[in-house]
Amino acid sequence: MTEKRVAILISGGGSNMVALADSMTGDHPARPCLVLSNNAQAGGLEKARARGIATAVVDHRPFAGDRPAFEAELTAALEQAEPDLICLAGFMRILTSGFVARWQGRMLNIHPSLLPKYRGLDTHARALAAGDAEHGCTVHEVTPELDDGPILGQARLTIAPGDTAETLAARVLVLEHRLYPAVLRNVAAGQTGPVVIC
Ligand code: GRF
Repeated sequence: MTEKRVAILISGGGSNMVALADSMTGDHPARPCLVLSNNAQAGGLEKARARGIATAVVDHRPFAGDRPAFEAELTAALEQAEPDLICLAGFMRILTSGFVARWQGRMLNIHPSLLPKYRGLDTHARALAAGDAEHGCTVHEVTPELDDGPILGQARLTIAPGDTAETLAARVLVLEHRLYPAVLRNVAAGQTGPVVIC
């Protein structure tokens, strides 16, 4: 069986990209084909190059306000790599429904909360402020609504006394690095059914 080609979109350090890329070895049914960032300074680009993964940058700033024009450049860069799957991994740009529709069913995202709770930003501070006992992360299929698509996997932890938004973010990130590769392997193998990590 030919391996699935996976493009990974990042905006920053790319720790989730590293976890995904390093998981795609041996009998894994997928391989990374591109790491693409909207930020030429993203630390993840060097990590991808060090792994021999093709990289591309499509800076969003020249397209200020014109999302479709930015996304046309994204699409051109992606089409060159011919991905079967796209993983958003710390990619911090909102995507229009037009772009999402083009890749729907083949695009995943990881979000640092137990969706449907806390869509959007500042998820750790919000979970703390709400006095939640549990928190975690979710991998979902990307749909036009932000952080709203079908859930493909979740990992959860117990919020500890004294946890701050920073300590929580660090603990959730460790779960993300376990959850995202597990979900990607399932999806690439054509397996359905959510992955649950407690
Ligand atoms: C992290 O806050 C993570 O929770 C979210 O994106 C941010 C950056 O992740 N998914 P990464 O280190 O760039 O993968």
